[in-house]
Amino acid sequence: MNSIEKEIRTLESKIRHHQQLYYKARKPEISDKEFDLLFKKLQDLEKANPEFASVNSPTKVVGSDSDNEFHKYQHKVPVLSLENTYNFAELKDWIEKTGIENEYSVEWKIDGASIVLYYEKGELVNGVSRGSGGIGDDVTENIRTIRNIPLKLPEPVSIYARGEVYMTFTDFAEFNEEFGGKYANPRNLAAGSIKHKNSSQTAKRPLRIFTYDAYFPEPNKKIKYHSQILETMSDLGLPVSNEYKIISGKKIEKVISEFKKKKDKVDYPVDGLVIKLNDLALRDALGATSHSPRWARAFKFDALMKETRIVNIDYAVGRTGKITPRAKVEPVLLAGTTVTYATLHNQDFIDEMGIGIGAKVNVAKRGEIIPAVEEVIEPGNQGIFKLPEKCPACGTVLLKVDESVDFFCPNKKCPDREKNSLIFFCQRKQMDIEGLGEKQIENFYNAGFIRSIPDIYKLKSKRDELIQTAGLGEKSVDIILSGIEKSKEKDFKFVLPSIGLSEVGHKVTEILIENGFDDIDKIIEAASAANARENLEEIHGMGPRTAESIVRQFQDRETLKLIDELKKAGLKFQAVRRQKSSLTLFGGQSWCVTGSFENFQPRDKAMDLIVYYGGRKVTSISTKTTHLLAGENAGSKLEKARELGVLIVNEKEFLEILKKAKIKL
Ligand code: IVH
Repeated sequence: MNSIEKEIRTLESKIRHHQQLYYKARKPEISDKEFDLLFKKLQDLEKANPEFASVNSPTKVVGSDSDNEFHKYQHKVPVLSLENTYNFAELKDWIEKTGIENEYSVEWKIDGASIVLYYEKGELVNGVSRGSGGIGDDVTENIRTIRNIPLKLPEPVSIYARGEVYMTFTDFAEFNEEFGGKYANPRNLAAGSIKHKNSSQTAKRPLRIFTYDAYFPEPNKKIKYHSQILETMSDLGLPVSNEYKIISGKKIEKVISEFKKKKDKVDYPVDGLVIKLNDLALRDALGATSHSPRWARAFKFDALMKETRIVNIDYAVGRTGKITPRAKVEPVLLAGTTVTYATLHNQDFIDEMGIGIGAKVNVAKRGEIIPAVEEVIEPGNQGIFKLPEKCPACGTVLLKVDESVDFFCPNKKCPDREKNSLIFFCQRKQMDIEGLGEKQIENFYNAGFIRSIPDIYKLKSKRDELIQTAGLGEKSVDIILSGIEKSKEKDFKFVLPSIGLSEVGHKVTEILIENGFDDIDKIIEAASAANARENLEEIHGMGPRTAESIVRQFQDRETLKLIDELKKAGLKFQAVRRQKSSLTLFGGQSWCVTGSFENFQPRDKAMDLIVYYGGRKVTSISTKTTHLLAGENAGSKLEKARELGVLIVNEKEFLEILKKAKIKL
């Protein structure tokens, strides 16, 4: 890095640091004037050296807290917070003081953004952030885009409902994938989304709400318990999590341990439980401090975020050549495991967060296996980290492909790419070859036994050599060789996604097979036909990028050679044809299945029936979908189906259809 570039990076990180102190921590360390000088200096340097200016420079993004963009709204009722406790003894004390014989509601503490919905005479008039509790930001326009928030209630009642806007892990993962993994977690994305300046952007984000409390401005004598508040909200169409429990204080320990067991199975972020007195008269008697009510406690689970320091940054080269930077951090204990590495996703993420070696950061583990850097508390002294220009494994100059946020090593013979392709091929989800794990592959690769996938199938003839040179016992070698033999039985639907073609994963393979491309030769033929791309694009579920990718790769000499060699090795390149009934009960129909079912577990069982009796299966709702089979907890697909007028069939109705046609389960 030359000195100008270095200076630019240092200035960027300084400015970010002071912005953070000013806007977020609200504890500026320098005067506005000093800040403006730094800003001006960076602007000037960038102007004179545009090649070193980063796209996310603080001079290009608005450094406001964005809260200023919204109108202020004086809450009608103070929006109080909760007193937290982390240890059970403390919680037990509180319950004993408050009355162990009393009833309590135990609910998930959802980790999203706190919102109050103001309905007047049945109309949603305002959606307001919690803000200071007294005054919040009026984010109504954004709130109105959230699909499960009713704009009109079925009755003309006035109600101020409190809730948490959140994003499910599933929706987050899907959304984040589209953006190259640049978002840290569903909570931050949800919180950021409701504060977006452009509500059409908020509308694109898969947000939802759970409401958990309400205030009725017109006295409502019938409501005496918190449970009735929840029921009333639910009756009015306000989404209430159905996982709350009303229990006697005596049962608290047992119930908490039940919730704890379920904690990693819920598909939305929760950071603890909220325990509330159920009797509203008792609540009133206890009252509140200026900060929090005396009738509720938050029982937080172990911290999922810890502070540490980045000691080094290195980067892995994936099988596709994608470079993933990762931070080596000072080891910290987080949610039961010691964390030594945290992913940094890509250069954009690094720039956006201002990450560098030496930085003090918060790392978090939220459902993912590898923790991620969540925020920079204090920038390092070496400026923002820049990925090198060359591949760390083979020295080839890295490239950015299309509009991707990632850098790639374009060298197909790059040793790290080759090794990772082999590891991918042998993985459990792919060809599932026993004995060929990461370490063993690395060992065989380095000893020159395997360089490419076909080499795996040549190991059989090298049994003696393997025993002699690879440092393995006879028994281990035989386990590996028999694992390799067994993989030849794997169906085409596993073989195709394992060879590592871009865009051709399990989902695309399934789509191809279902649409008659159940044999590799048919795919190769289709890829070389005139109008190949257009023809493939016609297939439901196949995007233009995938179609283009298929055409390109199945004409590529190297891919064809690989397929040919694997065919010769005895791998299956023809799918087992699924039998179909002559009874075409679902002929001409396209079914999507969502939610969970009592009689179809896993739900693929319902899908298989539909396909067996002539139907087509689709994985997402579109105008071409004719039916949605909706089980319990059907989420966004149900809403989309309603919107598009797709026929919605529940489990009972589906069973009746089958019964009428005399189909037995
Ligand atoms: S009740 C006065 N119930 O936690 C009672 N809050 O740390 C107020 N939260 O600002 C809150 N899930 O944003 C309540 N089931 C739940 C909750 C919940 C999440 C959030 C809420 C609140 C914060 C307090």
